[in-house]
Amino acid sequence: MAVSIRASLLSCTLVSIFLVSSAQSCSNYTFTSDRVFYSCSDLPYLEAHLHWNYNPSTGKVAIAYRAKQKSKGWIAWGINPTGRGMVGSQALVAFHNTNGSVTVYPTPITSYNPSMQPEALSFQVSNITAEYSDNEMTIFAVVGPLNNGTLVNHVWQAGSSVSDNVPQIHSTSPPNLQSMGILNFLSG
Ligand SMILES: *[C@@H]1O[C@H](CO)[C@@H](O)[C@H](O)[C@H]1NC(C)=O
Ligand SMILES: *[C@@H]1O[C@H](CO)[C@@H](O)[C@H](O)[C@H]1NC(C)=O
Ligand SMILES: *[C@@H]1O[C@H](CO)[C@@H](O)[C@H](O)[C@H]1NC(C)=O
Ligand SMILES: *[C@@H]1O[C@H](CO)[C@@H](O)[C@H](O)[C@H]1NC(C)=O
Repeated sequence: MAVSIRASLLSCTLVSIFLVSSAQSCSNYTFTSDRVFYSCSDLPYLEAHLHWNYNPSTGKVAIAYRAKQKSKGWIAWGINPTGRGMVGSQALVAFHNTNGSVTVYPTPITSYNPSMQPEALSFQVSNITAEYSDNEMTIFAVVGPLNNGTLVNHVWQAGSSVSDNVPQIHSTSPPNLQSMGILNFLSG
């Protein structure tokens, strides 16, 4: 009896580990366009993944931030060059514009009540595009040169609503408060 319970618990655990890892694996994800990213990280919150290519000769990093989201929601990813967490982060935000296209732009997060309006970041960012398919929103951009090194504090976020083309406040549930980390663009 005890043995069979343990055996079924073990198989449940194995099944759930397998389901979680296959659902979250970024390493074999293929982008629809001819884009190829050689490094990636399955982020621990908000069903999000970061893919990147770091170019040591230019110090620039091409990123793709990909996250599960409903059509009406928004996603954001950023680097915080001056600290940890939301305030101070230099972010990119994407959502569906009222005209139906996916809008994406840079926006510095200067307070806990940021404007979320397009504005230049404290570092260079170019080639910003975004797309939505299969219930996932993806932001593409080229960030840098990373003249402060390849080790960065990064943050990511998601919100369920956009009003008059302005992303609205996100939930304060644990995943939305824990969605930050340290990333080394040289590893992975
Ligand atoms: C990635 O690999 C996992 C496990 O082998 C598989 O279940 C999943 O479908 C693969 N995903 C893609 C996008 O190929
Ligand atoms: C939708 O609006 C955005 C922002 O004003 C604009 O950049 C984009 O070209 C528009 N797209 C369409 C399909 O009208
Ligand atoms: C940015 O986009 C332009 C035009 O598509 C391309 O020529 C250039 O290589 C891109 N830059 C980077 C750093 O990927
Ligand atoms: C480097 O650090 C400065 C000062 O903290 C910051 O303003 C700038 O955005 C950082 N640059 C990058 C690429 O992280």
